[in-house]
Amino acid sequence: MESIQSIKQRFEIIGNDVKLNRAIEKAIQVAPTDISVLVTGESGVGKESIPKIIHSLSHRKHAKYIAVNCGAIPEGTIDSELFGHEKGAFTGATQTRSGYFEVADGGTIFLDEVGELPLTTQVRLLRVLENGEFLKVGSSQVQKTDVRIVAATNINMFEAIKKEKFREDLYYRLSTVEIGLPALRDRQEDIHLLFRKFASDFGQKYKMPTIRLDDQAIQLLLRYRWPGNVRQLRNIAEQISVLEENRIISAATLSSYLPNATGSNLPAVVEHNKKESDFSNEREILYKVLFDMKSDLNDLKKLTLELLKDNDTSKVQEENEGLIRKIYGDVDEEDIEHEETVPTKLLHLPEPVMEASNPTLTSQPQEDRYHFAEEIEEEETLSLQDKEIELIKKSLERNKGKRKAAASELGISERTLYRKIKQYDL
Ligand SMILES: Nc1ncnc2c1ncn2[C@@H]1O[C@H](COP(=O)(O)OP(=O)(O)OP(=O)(O)O)[C@@H](O)[C@H]1O
Ligand SMILES: [Mg+2]
Repeated sequence: MESIQSIKQRFEIIGNDVKLNRAIEKAIQVAPTDISVLVTGESGVGKESIPKIIHSLSHRKHAKYIAVNCGAIPEGTIDSELFGHEKGAFTGATQTRSGYFEVADGGTIFLDEVGELPLTTQVRLLRVLENGEFLKVGSSQVQKTDVRIVAATNINMFEAIKKEKFREDLYYRLSTVEIGLPALRDRQEDIHLLFRKFASDFGQKYKMPTIRLDDQAIQLLLRYRWPGNVRQLRNIAEQISVLEENRIISAATLSSYLPNATGSNLPAVVEHNKKESDFSNEREILYKVLFDMKSDLNDLKKLTLELLKDNDTSKVQEENEGLIRKIYGDVDEEDIEHEETVPTKLLHLPEPVMEASNPTLTSQPQEDRYHFAEEIEEEETLSLQDKEIELIKKSLERNKGKRKAAASELGISERTLYRKIKQYDL
């Protein structure tokens, strides 16, 4: 059996943490079998190496290894991607196509972000896991395949099961063996080691002297929560390697690269007191307001559409009571008083501010005003997107990369947040 050490070298895995070693050891042990494996751990902990280790140490190593990011494939095409389709199965299906399960026959499929699979696809996957059978989309002819599945997720699968977003039977079928990777903050011994390795790699890559941390910077490095784990550490080592002229890095310099790490502010403390009102400055509150506005606008669009379709206001009112309350609030006098403290009151701010800072606007002829307004609107849309990105990033940081918590803080669904993360490449 290949040693843990040589596997680490082969797959460029850095670290000596006991839990990391245990995870690699488990991967080596299960590799020769056909057991399904579920790799778990926070975002950026290095889950993608595990299925590669398993495949390369298995009897399937000469057959195909296909990695599929389940969260990145649109819901409408995922069945066809995985299982193939027949000619004419849907508009645009001009030819019969093989899916990954057919192509990878004899090999391994890595289903990354498996928690994002739509429920209908989960049913197909369960069948293929149970007896190797599947149907192409649009076909009634059962096909056989022999594929080993390794899946990975960074979400809490029990939560997903509870919310009926993930089938319990499939979860147990996928996780015959679970390999958990530790968060970077729980691998204290490895943090500086990883940083030195990345600093040396990037020094070579950019042909600059390797950066080095002074003692206090090392302390900060060890104390930080690393919500984005090894991926975040690597990115930061790269940024500092490229941007800092002085190659000895102080704690102050390092902290300027670490979100939520200024001064004595230990991110862990911030984390515990996390509330909506914890947005660190006014700007952030305004972003939040803009973000809420966008979401209200979407709700309004939905409501208008319903009205247009049904033309029956009382029915629509009845059916959308929750939505209406969300947008307009309770009409109670008392409640309006209370809402003074809620940031949504700021909704009224932008318009007068804009007019006042553009005195030329009111003196322009009607037509010019219209064009000017259009330009402003376009610029605002762009900057609104930037704000949205920043807001999402901050919320993810605050919530240690946990999408569920971030989504609920932002008041959007997890799936919407996930799409935005993909869309903006966060
Ligand atoms: N122990 C390690 N040694 C060296 N590099 C590592 C280690 N762990 C992770 N990395 C690097 O960190 C980055 C993130 O790892 P990876 O893509 O496997 O994360 P992940 O767990 O799949 O995260 P996500 O859930 O967000 O997909 C990669 O560039 C990977 O090479
Ligand atoms: Mg990954």
